[in-house]
Amino acid sequence: MLKTHNCGGLRAAHVGQEITLAGWVNRWRDHGGLAFLDLRDRSGIVQVVSDPDAAPGAHAVARQARSEFVLQVRGVVRRRPDGLTNPDMPTGEIEVVARQVEILNPAKTPPFYVYDDSPVDEALRLKYRYLDLRRQRMQRNLILRHRVVKYIRDFLAARDFVEIETPILFKTTPEGARDYLVPSRVHPGEFYALPQSPQQLKQLLMVAGFERYFQIARCFRDEDQRGDRQPEFTQLDLEMSFVEREDVIALAEALLTGVIEDCCERELLLKPFPRLTYAEALRRFGSDRPDMRFGMELVDISDLVAESGFGIFSKTVEGGGQVRGIRAPGCGSYSRRQIDELTELAQREGAKGLAWMAVGEGGEVRSSFAKFLAGEEIAAIIERMEAEPGDLLLFVAAAAPVVNAVLNGLRLELGERLGLRDANVLACCWVVDFPLFEWNEEERRWDPSHHLFTAPMPEDLPLLDTDPGAARGQQYDFVCNGVETGGGSIRIHQREVQEKVFELIGLDAAVARERFGHMLEAFEYGTPPHGGIAPGIDRLVMFLAGEPNIREVIAFPKTQQAADLMAGAPSPVEPEQLEELHIQIVDE
Ligand code: AMO
Repeated sequence: MLKTHNCGGLRAAHVGQEITLAGWVNRWRDHGGLAFLDLRDRSGIVQVVSDPDAAPGAHAVARQARSEFVLQVRGVVRRRPDGLTNPDMPTGEIEVVARQVEILNPAKTPPFYVYDDSPVDEALRLKYRYLDLRRQRMQRNLILRHRVVKYIRDFLAARDFVEIETPILFKTTPEGARDYLVPSRVHPGEFYALPQSPQQLKQLLMVAGFERYFQIARCFRDEDQRGDRQPEFTQLDLEMSFVEREDVIALAEALLTGVIEDCCERELLLKPFPRLTYAEALRRFGSDRPDMRFGMELVDISDLVAESGFGIFSKTVEGGGQVRGIRAPGCGSYSRRQIDELTELAQREGAKGLAWMAVGEGGEVRSSFAKFLAGEEIAAIIERMEAEPGDLLLFVAAAAPVVNAVLNGLRLELGERLGLRDANVLACCWVVDFPLFEWNEEERRWDPSHHLFTAPMPEDLPLLDTDPGAARGQQYDFVCNGVETGGGSIRIHQREVQEKVFELIGLDAAVARERFGHMLEAFEYGTPPHGGIAPGIDRLVMFLAGEPNIREVIAFPKTQQAADLMAGAPSPVEPEQLEELHIQIVDE
């Protein structure tokens, strides 16, 4: 080894020892006489001093060193002189007096400083990712990620799970996104698809009798990017045989609770994780992935205003719509302009307008609609909303899906403004009893609301023939801080049911056989009842690290345009390569 100790590990106990360090120059200061270098390796930073009188050779080399030079330093640990200790540094009580310094490699001036975590343009960070990854925040995030994966592996291995790898070059595995395709050289005109998840393969491993499988699985989805999406990402993919929904949820909850409590310091607010049905989540939060860090639940006042003199309310209720609202505590003093901003947000989410009522400190009411209502109607609304003096009440009158979308948007915005969405707090929940299908108006057919292989609730099986839209799936979503962070289900394990689902989603029998024949066939060779789940590792680590987007917890992520700025991928290829692959590029 080129070093005997780690920089960040040196303490007063090492005083007097001669040691050798190797690392990068974090910062340097040349005081004319003495030169000071902060030397950094993965473990941390230590101050190195060189003295021209004591070690002129070492000093001459040390004076040439600049930020990010790679050095080897041999020296002696000594206590820092009185008054010069640094309580903010773990190594702040000591310093290393250099006896010999060697430059292992010089460095150009970096495009941004590694030593501080001040903001740098993200494109620059991604172009020089190897320098960005030297920064403390990124080192911390990736080491956290390592600990999370290690925890998961240990937890599952201790419970009889077997880790098995599945192919990356495979066949379409639809999870609702476009496939990434890989052309075959050997089979002209034919393509592999990269897996959107190992869904089919893990089910086939259950057919194969493994009973408990997991994989830290890379998945690929060509879809519009967002802060919590990457074209390639990692799932903890797991599957179990001879289980029911409760078994998978219980195992996943024990694992997720364990990871959160073991790997981060953030407060886990709700234990055990609350369980909401899909219908309840929409009713209470307007969303099937509610942010449970705060209340501000949606309240229905339709019955109170059905007969009121405010036409927008009464006509909406008469037409089968609803009037619901939320209470923003302490926002009763909002100005017209602030309320107009919220109205614009509501309109962006699909509302025609926003009705509001501010309750003054003395109980007096300012409102966009109160003048159309009788005194007792206003009083009933205030009571139903549990409004206190100083609160702002916001109401939306529309069809249920619009009300949900708008109030969800307003709730999240107000939660943000009121500081209720604190990244130091984690609040998780399960959402269950999803509808099995969603109606696709454009294509005039049913789409699976999870994926093709999710089993209906046993009691809803007959609905597949009579009323597919009313059938619930045995699906469960794990939601963390308002983001869907894991999804799973009990699977279909009978060929007839699988074929029925293919038929309902408009998959022609011949196409189904061509795409999923291997699954249908496997179902005829003794498939055990089975189910599983796949929490997204990137999203999970993002929450544990308190980061606002998943690029911060991925070593080499892609941009919103799915590009790698460091290597310049994707990129054109040589004409010969295209020819070999039997591919012609068509100029647009
Ligand atoms: P699903 O499609 O719900 O289920 O995905 C499971 C989890 O994977 C993560 N995820 C993503 N993370 C980053 N970038 C993306 N583009 C992305 N897409 C998904 C999320 C999500 O909750 N095969 C099923 C699982 C199962 O049924 O067992 C599946 O993939 O955290």
